[in-house]
Amino acid sequence: MSAAEDNELEEQFAQKRMSSGTFVRLMRCVAPYRRTFVVNLVFTVLATASALLGPQLLQWGIDHHLTRLVDAATARTGVLWVSAIYLANLLVGWGLSVVQVRSAITVGQGAMNDLRVAVFEHIQRLSLSFFDRTQQGRIIARADSDIESLDRVLTWGANQMLSSALTLLGALALMLRYDWRLCLAVSVVIPPLAWSTRVFQRRAMLAYRHMREQGSRLTAAAAEGIAGVRVVQAFAREDVNLGQYQELGEEYGRRVLSAARLFHTYLPFVGVLSGLGTAIILGYGGTLALRGELSVGELAAFILYLGMFFGPIQTMGDLYNALLSTAASAERVFGLLDTEPQIRDRPDATVLGTAEGRIRFEGVCFRYDSTSADRWILDDIDFEVRPGETLALVGATGSGKSSIVSLLMRFYEPQRGRVMLDGCDVASVTLESLHRQIAIVTQDNFLFTGTVMENLRFARPEATEAEIRQAAETLGTDDVIRKLKDGYETRVGERGSSLSAGERQLICFTRALVARPRILVLDEATSAVDPATEARIQHALERLFEKRTSLVIAHRLSTVRHATRILVLDHGRVVEQGTHDELVAQGGRYAALYREFVRE
Ligand SMILES: Nc1ncnc2c1ncn2[C@@H]1O[C@H](COP(=O)(O)OP(=O)(O)O)[C@@H](O)[C@H]1O
Ligand SMILES: [Mg+2]
Repeated sequence: MSAAEDNELEEQFAQKRMSSGTFVRLMRCVAPYRRTFVVNLVFTVLATASALLGPQLLQWGIDHHLTRLVDAATARTGVLWVSAIYLANLLVGWGLSVVQVRSAITVGQGAMNDLRVAVFEHIQRLSLSFFDRTQQGRIIARADSDIESLDRVLTWGANQMLSSALTLLGALALMLRYDWRLCLAVSVVIPPLAWSTRVFQRRAMLAYRHMREQGSRLTAAAAEGIAGVRVVQAFAREDVNLGQYQELGEEYGRRVLSAARLFHTYLPFVGVLSGLGTAIILGYGGTLALRGELSVGELAAFILYLGMFFGPIQTMGDLYNALLSTAASAERVFGLLDTEPQIRDRPDATVLGTAEGRIRFEGVCFRYDSTSADRWILDDIDFEVRPGETLALVGATGSGKSSIVSLLMRFYEPQRGRVMLDGCDVASVTLESLHRQIAIVTQDNFLFTGTVMENLRFARPEATEAEIRQAAETLGTDDVIRKLKDGYETRVGERGSSLSAGERQLICFTRALVARPRILVLDEATSAVDPATEARIQHALERLFEKRTSLVIAHRLSTVRHATRILVLDHGRVVEQGTHDELVAQGGRYAALYREFVRE
């Protein structure tokens, strides 16, 4: 093994001792299952005792019925009896281990599932600023595989440790009782066994990790090659890609071989140790037996007990490694659970009743990274929308339109100024009651796996089917939905993948309407529908706008021109505001945008 690999080993194993705090917390996950846990430990002890009894019975059978000279008939009955008891003990042991394994899995899976639920619940509550810092997919994937890796410790940790220790100590104690000298002599195999197991397991773990890494590179290359096959063919890259793939495959083969080589050296070595132990028992124990200091039955039992050494030592080493490699996972999971959402309900937060729908921004200054000293993303924003009015936000990409919406939703908090709804600071009401008043349709319209109907009901699960169809009819989306494969019962793939962008968009509009919000926010919501469809829902939208306060962000100015007021944003500042006619008459930035739009 090279020096670099040795270093890697050290890095892997040296630093990651599990802190006692983490360990205690991990054990606390098991606490709700303590009764099953205790059952598990009791059965572990009983199963181990039953296993240790086997060689005793053998010894008894040999010494009392075979080597002691009695008449043949009595001896035969005795041996048969012992054999029957041996079998009975075996069956009892089997039953005990069934309970042992089942209870262990109940405890481990229960604890893991609790952790999974806790993590999911927690991730849902985290503020959006957390997701800005960490990639969403990675958070979930990491938490999931971290919890998965706790399985070894949570399910098997306690009972394997107990059964290994008991087996080892029990076997030693029984051997000591027979003859302490032979016991001492046989014990010489333990240190090399423990040492070689430890070295082997560390290296095997590393070798397997290298193998897995290369394996996933190989899979990724194949997947990418297939997904990108059009591009590959178009650029005639087949041969180059094949060459690269072949190289990856060969490297994978080498890694498999080097992992296998470890087994080829380790397993024979263990075989040699076990042979050595047997040789000691036969040679030294045989001498003792000839001198009459040890019985033949005891000699046989010795050989069986020796065989019981190997498993527990391997298991204990393995568990120790698992504990080390689990430390990092456990710390990450607990770290995630300890991350406090930055935006939470204040202790004195009130519940916002049905809102009238008056929105006010008062001198709002905001940036996503509150520690940076860059320019503001929103700079001194001041405006008011009265109940029932429609406010349109216009401006280039990146001018801060969506950020205004995020502040209204209190996904983030402004560093200066206040965001008010019906005269209350949005920071002083509960997030849930705030979000109930507002429905948003954005351009990245997210649908969930399930039917169209389920998606429409998302914000208001109690909505009846008739209400939902009514909403769709009002919006003019009913016939589009009915034309889908199974109408309202059409199944939507993950993220709505089985629908066209336009269809998704229309469903999202309907979903927003079903929610019956007091405030409707459309953030470039019509960008995915074709102009003809847009014109169709335009008219329905206007009816929606009449009854509620609305905030509309759109690039196509046809959606915007009927707004009560239009704010033109530039680099986070309001540069113009007024009605469509006023702004066109002013001849400023909006007028220029509008001229361009009309020319299109
Ligand atoms: N989550 C975020 N973290 C950091 N910066 C962001 C984030 N979202 C948007 N921004 C930045 O804020 C500015 C305004 O963005 P946004 O409000 O989305 O603009 P618009 O909706 O007008 O296109 C842009 O410069 C954008 O890069
Ligand atoms: Mg935007």
